[in-house]
Amino acid sequence: MKTIEWKDGKVFLIDQRKLPLKYEIINCSTYQEVAVAIKKMKIRGAPAIGVAAAFGMALAAYSSKASTYGEFIQDMEKAKNCLFLTRPTAINLFWALERMMNLINIKKGVDLFTLKDIILQEAENIAREDIEINKAMGRYGALLIKDGDNILTHCNAGALATVDYGTALGVIRTAFEEGKKLQVYVDETRPVLQGARLTAWELTQEKIPFTLITDNMAGFLMYRKKVDLIIVGADRIARNGDVVNKIGTYSLSVLARENKVPFYVAAPISSIDMSLKSGEEIPIEERNPKEVTHILGKQIAPAGVKVFNPAFDLTPNGYVEAIITEKGIIRKPFEKNIKSVVNTA
Ligand code: MRU
Repeated sequence: MKTIEWKDGKVFLIDQRKLPLKYEIINCSTYQEVAVAIKKMKIRGAPAIGVAAAFGMALAAYSSKASTYGEFIQDMEKAKNCLFLTRPTAINLFWALERMMNLINIKKGVDLFTLKDIILQEAENIAREDIEINKAMGRYGALLIKDGDNILTHCNAGALATVDYGTALGVIRTAFEEGKKLQVYVDETRPVLQGARLTAWELTQEKIPFTLITDNMAGFLMYRKKVDLIIVGADRIARNGDVVNKIGTYSLSVLARENKVPFYVAAPISSIDMSLKSGEEIPIEERNPKEVTHILGKQIAPAGVKVFNPAFDLTPNGYVEAIITEKGIIRKPFEKNIKSVVNTA
């Protein structure tokens, strides 16, 4: 099963809140259910929520009772606005919604019956392309990995964060499939534990050797020369190469610089927001304080304590060695090189 797929008029997805204790497939038959699944992080990871939004639009199209194009576009705008408000940081969500709306606008003359099928086809295209993109990223990124390397990763940028295969973890998978001996250090990634719950689960399935650590152990490992490189994913990259990714990424990048460990980011071109001059403009989601005061539903802090819970942080471009994309590896100067790669994409 892929992380997300369309079957028999419904969207099926792996419930990532339940892993690794329970592997449960849930389905959504309305776009509102998809919106809730994204909000509650039953599906998460930048590319995966983009695909979920696209399938949400397909559900909205098939449920529309509109008899004219004007009424139909109103229904689609309503669905888009609902899905748009689910999570603010990962650009793939907005990128996918825009791609769907553009298509609907271009196909204005087409009869509604056919248009609905075209909308589903486009969502399926986004899902299929996501896997191809991850594999291409894997092939480029694996060039940076040597036999015997110890690689540290943060959060989950694997198959579960995408439709299949993964971005940062896709690079590691490719290197492993090429026969390179590697070992991965997995940050648990507080507070939602995507590393301990999801990345550890994926690497177990793939039989890729790994060691789980808590986030505050990464610096000591680097100091002891146990880490050869770091690869993380991204939720949004500004056109100057600033990267917003899971909270804790910035600290890793600074520690990497101090310890001379190359710090790589693997992300599809669709994660690059060319409208933003720098990462300072990227909205950072703040989540429920309970994610910090509770672990798996159990309270671990005194009741009522004040909490700060940003889900992402900003890694300034200076700390990034290179950005691995499906079009190749982008190095400094980022502003210039990102522009030329995006323009040829
Ligand atoms: O809050 P999440 O779990 O959606 O955050 C996910 C991340 O930060 C990933 O590292 C990022 O989306 C890259 S995933 C390919």
